[in-house]
Amino acid sequence: MSDSSCQVCRPSSVGKKVVMAITGLVLAGFVLGHMSGNLLMFKGPAAIDAYAAWLHANPLLLWTSRIVLLLSAAAHVWAGVTLTLENRAARDGGPSVDATRRATLGSRTMPYTGLVLLAFIVFHLLHYTFQAAALGGQKFDSVYRMVVTGFSSAPVSVFYVVSMLLLCLHLGHGFSSLFQTLGLRNERWRGRLDRLSLAYAWIVALGFVSIPVAVLAGILK
Ligand code: HEM
Repeated sequence: MSDSSCQVCRPSSVGKKVVMAITGLVLAGFVLGHMSGNLLMFKGPAAIDAYAAWLHANPLLLWTSRIVLLLSAAAHVWAGVTLTLENRAARDGGPSVDATRRATLGSRTMPYTGLVLLAFIVFHLLHYTFQAAALGGQKFDSVYRMVVTGFSSAPVSVFYVVSMLLLCLHLGHGFSSLFQTLGLRNERWRGRLDRLSLAYAWIVALGFVSIPVAVLAGILK
């Protein structure tokens, strides 16, 4: 489209959407892998602690994944923030660029759920990866013990559960939208891909949620 008022059609915006889609795919893959690993909590301390020890015993794998994750998260946030600001500026100066799209709760709240998730990740890294003293962090040798102790606090568990529900909302829209950006979604596939995205988002969110809920219910202790 050559219409100069169409901000999302400008090459720079298209490039940023592709950056969002590719980095979003990396992050969506990470959350599924991370959630699956965390479910080892239900197999007991030996299983999850052995998994954590295996990860730390493979520094190349650990640090490659950390660097890819960090770069993906930084690029995803940068593209998300700049695209949102560009879209807002375009809306203020002319007709809504979203006028022809079906706006859902997920699509309308993407920038907000994204920012809450960013805050969640900072808290989460301080909580479990750095075991920060400011969050009442003791140093643990066992990941199982650390997670059970962390989720024994009801406010912390509630914060995790609410964040996971927002992750579900973000992922439910984002996952389906990335197929559109990468040109892999047509009208025939739209419904199926939307349902697949929703199922993916719920599986990831409920898998994560099961852990604080199981700790509070006394199933994991
Ligand atoms: C019930 C939910 C969750 C639990 C129990 C959990 C548990 C953990 C634990 C124990 C670690 C430290 C691993 C270690 O250093 O050995 C960790 C690291 C991490 N978690 Fe989670 N996590 C949860 C949800 C999430 C979510 C939803 C995200 C992203 C949206 C996330 C992102 C990360 C990241 C980026 C790291 C750092 C990985 C690294 O050190 O390389 N976590 N998590």
